[in-house]
Amino acid sequence: MNVLLLGSGGREHALAHHIAKSPLLGRLFAAPGNPGMAAVATCVALDAADAQAVIDFCRVMEIGFVVVGPEAPLVAGLVDALAEAGIKAFGPRRAAAQLEGSKGFTKDLCTAFAIPTAAAAQFTDADTAKDYIRSRGAPIVVKADGLASGKGVVVAQSVAEAEAAVDQMRGGLFGAAGQSLVIEDCLDGEEVSFFALCDGRTARAFASAQDHKRVGEGDTGPNTGGMGAYSPAPVMDEALTARVMAEIVEPALRGMAEMGMPFQGVLFAGLMLTRDGPKLIEFNVRFGDPETQAILPRLQGDLLALMLACAEGRLAWERFAFSAQHALTVVLAAEGYPGTPKKGSEIRGLDKAAALPGVIITQAGTKRDGTRLLADGGRVLNVTGLGSSLAEARARAYAGVDAIDWPGGFCRRDIGWRALKGE
Ligand code: AMP
Ligand code: GLY
Repeated sequence: MNVLLLGSGGREHALAHHIAKSPLLGRLFAAPGNPGMAAVATCVALDAADAQAVIDFCRVMEIGFVVVGPEAPLVAGLVDALAEAGIKAFGPRRAAAQLEGSKGFTKDLCTAFAIPTAAAAQFTDADTAKDYIRSRGAPIVVKADGLASGKGVVVAQSVAEAEAAVDQMRGGLFGAAGQSLVIEDCLDGEEVSFFALCDGRTARAFASAQDHKRVGEGDTGPNTGGMGAYSPAPVMDEALTARVMAEIVEPALRGMAEMGMPFQGVLFAGLMLTRDGPKLIEFNVRFGDPETQAILPRLQGDLLALMLACAEGRLAWERFAFSAQHALTVVLAAEGYPGTPKKGSEIRGLDKAAALPGVIITQAGTKRDGTRLLADGGRVLNVTGLGSSLAEARARAYAGVDAIDWPGGFCRRDIGWRALKGE
């Protein structure tokens, strides 16, 4: 079967690497892909926002399955357009993608199906929103309803900060995404990224990870798309996994099916482990980046077969397992990130780094220029270390980082610090 993978980040490079190993695969295409993915896929210039162009490409290249990496095409309804054209895909339809596309939609689902989450209210009017903020007090969290590239959340430490966030969002900082606001209580605890595969009716626990969102060491400074991650999350033992499935993932899947919007794809639950148990912070409807780079190296099983089973409603009978190993991913970003990253600096030494034991490199914002590899984005490289303990995984990841010659890049030196504190 020929497969088209949409996306160009480290997440998609990791997906490509695993899809390429499947005995079910004929040819693998990536759009737009990146220079790292070109080793296992044919990269093509195709805009995922142009559903007709994607469908035409699928017809010409006899694509049997489309894997959608990022959320925007899912929220825009690409999977619906593909289904109408008779093309199977991994990822939810537009109605089900509202789980990520609208925070208000997810809050309503939580209320209707008793899914534990922070108490919240929704507003389209700034004055009423501010009245609510004053009545609840700080700390309090202000969120834009729609997609805002992970930047539409302000955890305000004071009422004044929360009111300023309301004005900014209503003032158009995130365009239409911020015209409706969700204001919710601040949750306290440890955060975990939890992933479940879903075929509309059946959900199977897949993997857990923890990521580091802040740019600076000690989790300080501005938020980013993610500066590193490790998997599994040490706190997610079997009992907690069963509880998250029973209290959060399964009611959500049942609720979506009851409302006529069955969810198929990967459901990514951002969780806060509070004193009162796990609570949902948000759902995403796709794999995480950089979590995926730390999860997939541990997967024992055929990723393409699993994704197909999600699309075809056969997930209950699929077999997969994870190795007992730990993986830790360090993101290398270009100087200037998360502001304006400097483009064009040369990267050397990737082959040397990838040859080290237990080191896997995935590319994200890179570009080929003849034989040279150049930085071409914010998050540029991911270096994953695999080991029998988290400490060994981290040592291997940083050995990989140190073998790369890229003066224009930087990384955090403390990925995994919370989990490794006690070791
Ligand atoms: P989100 O985009 O909803 O994942 O939010 C981004 C980040 O904001 C999360 O990863 C949390 O660190 C933080 N956050 C969101 N909602 C809350 C909340 N209710 N309480 C505390 N922190 C939150
Ligand atoms: N690492 C968080 C995300 O992919 O949204």
